[in-house]
Amino acid sequence: MADGDTANRMWGGRFTSGPDAIMEEINASIAYDRKLYAQDIAGSQAHATMLAAQGIISAEDAEAIRSGLDQIRSEIEAGSFVFKRSLEDIHMNVEARLAELIGPAAGRLHTARSRNDQVALDFRLYVRDTLDHLDAQVKGLMLALAEKALAHAATVMPGFTHLQSAQPVTFGHHLLAYVEMLARDRGRLADARKRANECPLGAAALAGTSFPIDRHMTATALGFDRPTANSLDSVSDRDYALEALADASILAMHLSRLAEEIVIWSTAQFRFVRLSDAFSTGSSIMPQKRNPDAAELVRAKIGRIAGAFQGLLMVMKGLPLSYQKDMQEDKEQVFDALANCSLAIAAMTGMVRDMTANAAAMKAAAGSGYATATDLADWLVRELGLPFREAHHVTGRVVALAAEKGINLEDLSIEELQGVHPGITEAAYAVLGVDNSVRSRTSYGGTAPQNVTDQATRWLKALG
Ligand code: ARG
Repeated sequence: MADGDTANRMWGGRFTSGPDAIMEEINASIAYDRKLYAQDIAGSQAHATMLAAQGIISAEDAEAIRSGLDQIRSEIEAGSFVFKRSLEDIHMNVEARLAELIGPAAGRLHTARSRNDQVALDFRLYVRDTLDHLDAQVKGLMLALAEKALAHAATVMPGFTHLQSAQPVTFGHHLLAYVEMLARDRGRLADARKRANECPLGAAALAGTSFPIDRHMTATALGFDRPTANSLDSVSDRDYALEALADASILAMHLSRLAEEIVIWSTAQFRFVRLSDAFSTGSSIMPQKRNPDAAELVRAKIGRIAGAFQGLLMVMKGLPLSYQKDMQEDKEQVFDALANCSLAIAAMTGMVRDMTANAAAMKAAAGSGYATATDLADWLVRELGLPFREAHHVTGRVVALAAEKGINLEDLSIEELQGVHPGITEAAYAVLGVDNSVRSRTSYGGTAPQNVTDQATRWLKALG
């Protein structure tokens, strides 16, 4: 970023000796806002086209501006563009280069515009593009989960509450729970996009402009639904970025929970899933270890994502209208948080596709811990007409007996069961097996394999 150009020409010589090193250091944003180059150029090209259409600048100047900007985009993408910190930010770096390329016509581009509406536009476009990107990625993750869920619609595993075995469920059902969460995440992203999709360009510094601009034209050219309706609001708010971060935080929370489950499932104690070497690492000292690093990192990403939400919220609180330089602090954490959210989705999608389920270990675990006790209680209600509270009590005594003998419920003899309640018959054994247990959960949204198959199929169709 270093350059010999200390006098900032764009400030019209107000600082005769140029800003000192500290001022330049705190004031410049080019180190990170160069990320906005494509949005900045697209916005400027739309603005120039509109200015010409409205007779504010000549068609020749607009053409020169557009092609000069095309060249600048190529230079940036080729890595040959020289960014100058003394020019502060992406907007002035691009404009200064445009002046070098096309001469005085470059100076006409900034007619009826300010850096305030320019940066508001660029950042909004960036956030909007990123929302679209995240949405497509989440969709991919949902597909990966739904495919795995279909394959494991009948694979029995323990369902947990308090991380204690509660009732058997199927692995497919468990995975589809995340598909539901992610579908709501997509809904939030789509919602945020709707509100973000208004064009601030033309608000100028804060009050609008006396030039006869056509804000609807630029809004349409840039894919917005409409121009923003209040010039002060247009240059002042960053709620669209906050909303994106809030949505990303909730999404990252969901990813973190699934990541944690993968960490638990892949332990030697659980062995429910196995991640290939692609998503785990060995230990340099303990040869037996397979560390689920990718899952651990996905689990951690929420820290910086939710942190960015808090960070930007604190930057924005208490700011009087309209633009304040504080708002330059909006970008870095948004860039970082959304990029890491994207990375976390990619890693999670990779892991979901990569992991193999150990159906035997899952089934064995599902059968231990008396996970079918509720099924026995339900059987007593259904077959013997016991009130549920009494059935719960009887079942408790059955569980205690099995625990005392150190065996599973289905290993108790009929005499032992009848010793607890004389009404119990051989037929009760059918509900003590985990397969029968999950098969019986046919209520809408329940874990019965047929339900899971139907739901997974519905998702695959909706997403495909
Ligand atoms: N780099 C600035 C930012 O990110 C651009 C807007 C500057 N506007 C101004 N009036 N100084 O906010």
